Amino acid sequence: MIFDDLRAIQLRYGFLPKAELEGLSKRTHTPLYQIHSVASFYPHFHLALPAKAEIRVCADMSCHLNGACELRAELEQRFAGSPPEDVQIRDVSCLGRCDHAPAVSINDRIFADVRAESAEQIARKALRGEEVNEPHTEQMRVTCKADPYGEGERYGVLRKLVQSRAWDDVLAQLKTAELRGMGGAGFPTSMKWDLVRKQAEPVKYVVCNADESEPGTIKDRFIMTYLPHLVIEGMIIAGLVTGAKRGILYIRHEYGMQEEILGEEIRRCYHAGLLGKKILGSDLDFGLEIFVSPGGYICGEESALIEAIEGHRAEPRNKPPFPGQIGLWQKPTVINNVETFINVPQILARGVDWFVTQGANGSRGLKFVGVSGHVARPGIFEVPMGTPMREVIFKQAGGIRGGRQLKAFAPSGPSSGYLPASMVDVRLDFRALADAGSMLGSGAIVVCDESTCMLDMALNAVRFYRNESCGKCVPCRVGSQKMTDLLFRWTQGPIPELQYRADLALLDDLSQAMSQTSICGLGQIAPAPIQSVLKHFRAEIDAHVLKGQCPSRVCFTPASRTGEAQRVGIRP
Ligand SMILES: Cc1cc2nc3c(=O)[nH]c(=O)nc-3n(C[C@H](O)[C@H](O)[C@H](O)COP(=O)(O)O)c2cc1C
Ligand code: SF4
Ligand code: FES
Repeated sequence: MIFDDLRAIQLRYGFLPKAELEGLSKRTHTPLYQIHSVASFYPHFHLALPAKAEIRVCADMSCHLNGACELRAELEQRFAGSPPEDVQIRDVSCLGRCDHAPAVSINDRIFADVRAESAEQIARKALRGEEVNEPHTEQMRVTCKADPYGEGERYGVLRKLVQSRAWDDVLAQLKTAELRGMGGAGFPTSMKWDLVRKQAEPVKYVVCNADESEPGTIKDRFIMTYLPHLVIEGMIIAGLVTGAKRGILYIRHEYGMQEEILGEEIRRCYHAGLLGKKILGSDLDFGLEIFVSPGGYICGEESALIEAIEGHRAEPRNKPPFPGQIGLWQKPTVINNVETFINVPQILARGVDWFVTQGANGSRGLKFVGVSGHVARPGIFEVPMGTPMREVIFKQAGGIRGGRQLKAFAPSGPSSGYLPASMVDVRLDFRALADAGSMLGSGAIVVCDESTCMLDMALNAVRFYRNESCGKCVPCRVGSQKMTDLLFRWTQGPIPELQYRADLALLDDLSQAMSQTSICGLGQIAPAPIQSVLKHFRAEIDAHVLKGQCPSRVCFTPASRTGEAQRVGIRP
């Protein structure tokens, strides 16, 4: 409960004063160093009094492509001369509004599609001591193919399952459907559930991973807004099948509206007897609660997320053992992504045959994808798995903005690296994207037009990993900084060819060391963006490093020379 205590103190004082932390330590018999280690880890907590207007400009991929650098520079100009106790401007990692870039947070409230003028107005309000509130977004009615209930009665699969208790049949159907995890790693869901089901331990947990903090990833935000009942039904089914009696929905703190929607739906379920003791009059129990993340991309890594729920620093655990064996509070735990959970009632309600036929070109099921960057209609789209990327970018997302040409796209945020326009016919599918040297990941398609500098984009991605590294293991903590330094140097002016060759050899060594020896996926995948750019856009890098030329005229400008120190994100 340490986060509740810290939040209460922060609410009272605006930050965490030392005396209050000492008091908390005494009251709870927790060593002060432990409280401090947690408070200093999470971006949500302030150890010093923040400025009256804390302006944080999202610096990640989709916002970077939509003028975040220029926005930050203009805000710095507008507030030039303001004392630091009044205004502080700095970068922040992805705020989950990639379809409405650029996004900023002002005093922890998020504003999307902002221009310097509107951001200045909000910040001046904060300076006058007035409260700043996020704009209220109207919830439209949206019909999704993924919803098996439409206007009819919901939770039908759960109702039937409580009667039939056909737990093995659920596992068999998920296995035949070949449902894989939608959080990034694509692990077979039936295997994960089966592992937990087989554990002899009587206490087990179900966790829904709604941390969604990778740049470009916004699909879970949409799913939680429009299909909350399917997320909850999927979690209850997971509990009944595996024998877990308690579920926790872990949501990023920037998703306040979704937290409310889910909270309301959970209350309805308790009221209707779908959650709680004796579900629908049976002897089955399952309780569900929401846990709001104190922040940070690393919290999405499953074992780091468990550490966060337990009240520790979100540092990933060594694996094995896997959470299915030893997870939350050392008990067997099912952890799945939001979209994975909603696939379960879909498959069980309509049958495996229906699921198989929803895909295109030999793939199975439907997929929610977020498309952002230089497209005319950024947003979240529900498409058949297997749809060619060309169709998603040009048909669903309206093609490239301003009549420009497509240059590159990341199939799933920085982790997937960048593919060139010539590969735009690749299908949205686990196997097809892996064969293309990329990954389906979490379906976060970020699109770059012809004006984009790919070295700049690789630097942007590695900065993100550097900023978000939890620092637990050396290869990632030191390697991501070294990689950032090296790429930054390449954007600053020509270097001798011999030095370039040495840099390339060092980059390869670093990449290998990081991918093979980092504890978790963050450090393992951090080299992907630059390696993909070296593979597909090598001439562009050569021009920077050997000739001091940026073919896209992005680098070698005063803005691109901003010192690295100023670009450190939220966890300095
Ligand atoms: C750094 C990092 C961040 C991650 N963030 C998320 C996330 O926000 N949401 C998510 O579902 N999975 C995330 N994952 C993957 C999870 O560790 C885990 O594989 C996933 O939640 C399992 O669910 P699934 O099998 O349904 O995909 C992340 C992994 C890493 C290494
Ligand atoms: S790889 Fe990076 S993020 Fe993962 S445990 Fe190591 S330091 Fe932390
Ligand atoms: S909100 Fe800026 S990249 Fe996601």
